Amino acid sequence: MTTIPSGVPTAPRTTAAAARTTDLTKVYGEGETRVVALDAVSVTFHQAQFTAIMGPSGSGKSTLMHCMAGLDTISGGSARIGDTELTGLKDKKLTQLRRDKIGFIFQAFNLLPTLTALENITLPMDIAGRKPDRAWLDRVVETVGLSGRLKHRPGQLSGGQQQRVAVARALASRPEIIFADEPTGNLDSRSGAEVLGFLRNSVRELGQTVVMVTHDPAAASYADRVVFLADGRIVDDMPDPTADLVLERMKGFDAKGRTN
Ligand SMILES: Nc1ncnc2c1ncn2[C@@H]1O[C@H](COP(=O)(O)OP(=O)(O)O)[C@@H](O)[C@H]1O
Ligand SMILES: [Mg+2]
Repeated sequence: MTTIPSGVPTAPRTTAAAARTTDLTKVYGEGETRVVALDAVSVTFHQAQFTAIMGPSGSGKSTLMHCMAGLDTISGGSARIGDTELTGLKDKKLTQLRRDKIGFIFQAFNLLPTLTALENITLPMDIAGRKPDRAWLDRVVETVGLSGRLKHRPGQLSGGQQQRVAVARALASRPEIIFADEPTGNLDSRSGAEVLGFLRNSVRELGQTVVMVTHDPAAASYADRVVFLADGRIVDDMPDPTADLVLERMKGFDAKGRTN
């Protein structure tokens, strides 16, 4: 498979960009501890598309998600959510943008144990003083298959159900884009498949945009597209991935994370 230099656009399914980076660079530390975690990454995530990000450990996957979600500062280039450039936003505006336009799903579900599933789902909106759109909320809850579990507390739910609550929480405010960092990393394969199936449904049925980091080729096969990172650069971009194709591509990375 050929290597695509970063900056070369690939064919979009839709023209609208939910998020986009141009020459995004992130450097940690200085001198001997200096690490270029992202090296001029240019990538567009299209609306209503499910993208998986893969690459060896340390290739910059989490850094890319954090920079795009405004959870970390960037060293150079630009990152945009919709039409909004993240760099230069004042703290208050950035907080608002994160709250209104971005959903984040972490590997650890980060649910509050004393709240019910429904209370966990609506918590971010409650904090923001916003009323959930009831019809939308019902649809999200139904799509995640949690209708009969809304009064349960996290401790009364399976791992897969807990992660689905976290997914519903991210979806509830209808964010422009959801970033998920190894969302199935703590789940058994059946629960993982449940959550992945749901994420895919949210893209197909609700028009949600999802960008997900995973190291699992089977998980990546749920996506519409896989972007491969190595050494802080985009080295490949695969449409319509299958687990076998992804596995084959992963074999092309050597132990140091470089592409062969
Ligand atoms: N807070 C940090 N301080 C210093 N270096 C970091 C920090 N976060 C990540 N890195 C470095 O940046 C590189 C990319 O890390 P990361 O984005 O976490 O990779 P991945 O998620 O692909 O495993 C790694 O070399 C890592 O050690
Ligand atoms: Mg990571």
